[in-house]
Amino acid sequence: MVESGWFSRAGFGLFVHWDHASQQGIEVSWPLVGRSLVSDPSARDIVSVAQYQSSATTFDPRHWDAPSLATLARTSGAQYIVFTTRHHAGFSMFHTRASDFSIEHTPYRADITRQLIEAARAEGLRIGLYYSLSDWHHPDYPAFQESDKPYVFEHYRRPSTEAWSRYLDYVRTQLTELLTGYGPVDLVWFDGQWERTAEEWRAAELRQLVASLQPDAIVNDRLPGQGDYDTPEQFLPTKPPGRAWELCLTMNDSWGWRPQDTNYKSPHLLARYLADVVSRGGNLLLNVSPTGDGSLPDVQVSLLEQIGAWITSHRDAIIGVRPAPAAVDFHGPATTRDDRLYLFLLDRPQESVVVRGVPIRRVRRVSLIGTGRELRHHVPLAALDEHLLGTDLLGELLIDAPEPTGALVDVIAIEFESA
Ligand code: GLC
Repeated sequence: MVESGWFSRAGFGLFVHWDHASQQGIEVSWPLVGRSLVSDPSARDIVSVAQYQSSATTFDPRHWDAPSLATLARTSGAQYIVFTTRHHAGFSMFHTRASDFSIEHTPYRADITRQLIEAARAEGLRIGLYYSLSDWHHPDYPAFQESDKPYVFEHYRRPSTEAWSRYLDYVRTQLTELLTGYGPVDLVWFDGQWERTAEEWRAAELRQLVASLQPDAIVNDRLPGQGDYDTPEQFLPTKPPGRAWELCLTMNDSWGWRPQDTNYKSPHLLARYLADVVSRGGNLLLNVSPTGDGSLPDVQVSLLEQIGAWITSHRDAIIGVRPAPAAVDFHGPATTRDDRLYLFLLDRPQESVVVRGVPIRRVRRVSLIGTGRELRHHVPLAALDEHLLGTDLLGELLIDAPEPTGALVDVIAIEFESA
């Protein structure tokens, strides 16, 4: 697995999807083109283009509190925040000289992106900026119109060559603003790439631009052909990508605030995703959706607090770890750090927990994270094995099934004597 610096073992990050249209309680961007990312037809939120964009003029999120969100992110165990500075609908959540269609020209005026970046940095979090390559509002893109409906994938209206080159200037200007005006940026999260080819985007040049302005920043795979890591969305790949990766996941079925979407995942399921992801070498980027007034919905705060409490008490097994060595055979996620192996008990074990392919002669202690209680275990050694040489002999360990502690997922820690 090719690692990518701090990112490869970050474990957990927070995604924030927000737009002026959150005032209308509809998904970010997609309602404008009359599509939904969810198969539920009632989730389409179809509105006219004009209706979608009408709430830009009234955007005044008085309850937005960037420091609280950043604190919540940190206390829930997140190592980084990724924020939608501009989504496909084209509204910039930052001050930009490239367009009037931004937060600066709303009753709120203040630069929300700056507020969040400063708050995140104050909490010691890494900064990721989401930026949509496509812009359904920009005249040179060209802007999406009612007459373009229905939105059909792979059938996009193209502008003239001159308009396209002006559009690319706009993208470069905005990226330059984002990457020079806000201090160090750790990650650029591109999106909306599918409407054009890598050549049309001049993807390699954009990568160059990022590298020249923020040499340490990494870039996701949605800048075609240029990414440092992969971004599977909404499902766990059964075969993990061969390089750094991150699963982006919604708590319910929507990225933006949609009050009618109450299909929230349980805290246990979220913990399960996190365990599965980190045990396969990825990070979980879990999304929250501020409402139109800037507050975070209670249900999302509560979910973050619950998963956060679990991460905090099981941090050693989740943050800064690697997948268990390939030799380890365990029916569930397993991670490793230094001389320890962590086994996630997704399902309640019967009698004993069995793990194979571990250095049985070096087992020092087996315990349950959280309570720290030692667990009885034994190695079913054959007489023959006793005579096999070497302390690195890999074999089978049987651990007495622990009583559940009440944690979202219980985790067993096995400590080994150093080789
Ligand atoms: C998608 C969507 C979008 C969401 C995102 C997150 O491609 O278009 O609304 O921002 O990816 O992964």
